[in-house]
Amino acid sequence: MRFIIFFIYITLVYSESHTFTTLYTEINGLAIAGIPEFSSVTTLDGRQIDYYDSEIKKLIPRQDWIKEFMSGDRFKEYTEIRERVQQTNKINITFLMQQFSHSYGVHTYQRMYGCEWDYQTGASQGFDQHGYDGEDYVALDVKELRYITPVQQGVITTEKWNNDRAQLELLRQYYQNECVNWLQYFLMLRKVDLERRAPEVSLLQRDPSSPVVLCHATGFYPSGLTITWLKNGQDHDEGVDLGELLQNEDGTFLKTSTLYIQPEEWEKNQFVCEVEHMGRTYLKILTEDEIKSNTSKF
Ligand SMILES: *[C@@H]1O[C@H](CO)[C@@H](O)[C@H](O)[C@H]1NC(C)=O
Ligand SMILES: *[C@@H]1O[C@H](CO)[C@@H](O)[C@H](O)[C@H]1NC(C)=O
Repeated sequence: MRFIIFFIYITLVYSESHTFTTLYTEINGLAIAGIPEFSSVTTLDGRQIDYYDSEIKKLIPRQDWIKEFMSGDRFKEYTEIRERVQQTNKINITFLMQQFSHSYGVHTYQRMYGCEWDYQTGASQGFDQHGYDGEDYVALDVKELRYITPVQQGVITTEKWNNDRAQLELLRQYYQNECVNWLQYFLMLRKVDLERRAPEVSLLQRDPSSPVVLCHATGFYPSGLTITWLKNGQDHDEGVDLGELLQNEDGTFLKTSTLYIQPEEWEKNQFVCEVEHMGRTYLKILTEDEIKSNTSKF
């Protein structure tokens, strides 16, 4: 299992399958300022939409489009839910430590739950996994509607939870319906926010003698965008490497086309990077003035 604690921002390869998750992390025995005992992260497609921890004691929206949704009463309610989880997890981790005969030391208890939904097939799947010290502890088999555990120490918990049929039924409802509805609702909020964002196009070269030039388009939405290199007005695809479509932290897209070419070659000929998005064309002529040196992109 090994849940990662992701406080960092990442760019991901775009896919039609969407995921909505909540991750709670409880750390026991680590009294270091700056590392919270409890944290909660909600993500949509791997990107944080909100964050809470026991030091900040406040729910923080991580995306512009969630700010309005998460204001007023809902902000209060969502903060309170996390405060309650913080309290129970503090007790839970001591129970887990007892099960594993750990009386001291640094230990973690994590729960990750949520659902996946495929835009194309409409198929969805819920999940609810609990981990202790990075290993599987207990997980819900949503189809069979029962909790399973790969370890002896998890048996007390699975037996207790599997005996509560009413609660299991509620969970089934949640993972099959509500969770997917929320996921779709958040996708809709994100889409409305992103509707038609124009790309920002730039030419990048590591240094003036480098034989690699990147045409970099970022911040656009929706995802349909083409990048073409032109040599003296003609399509040029020799030594061109079109990169994968990636997604930025804010849900906008990013695409790069790499041109392998000697500086003398583009000084003698006119090379242009042509980007098309939503019926508009953006041109960048390859000249020294247009190039931004930026080593961080190489
Ligand atoms: C955590 O505590 C709650 C409340 O006491 C309890 O219902 C739940 O079973 C506990 N979870 C684990 C993993 O023991
Ligand atoms: C280089 O790229 C980084 C990250 O995209 C950006 O913050 C920085 O301002 C850029 N520097 C230049 C000189 O363009």
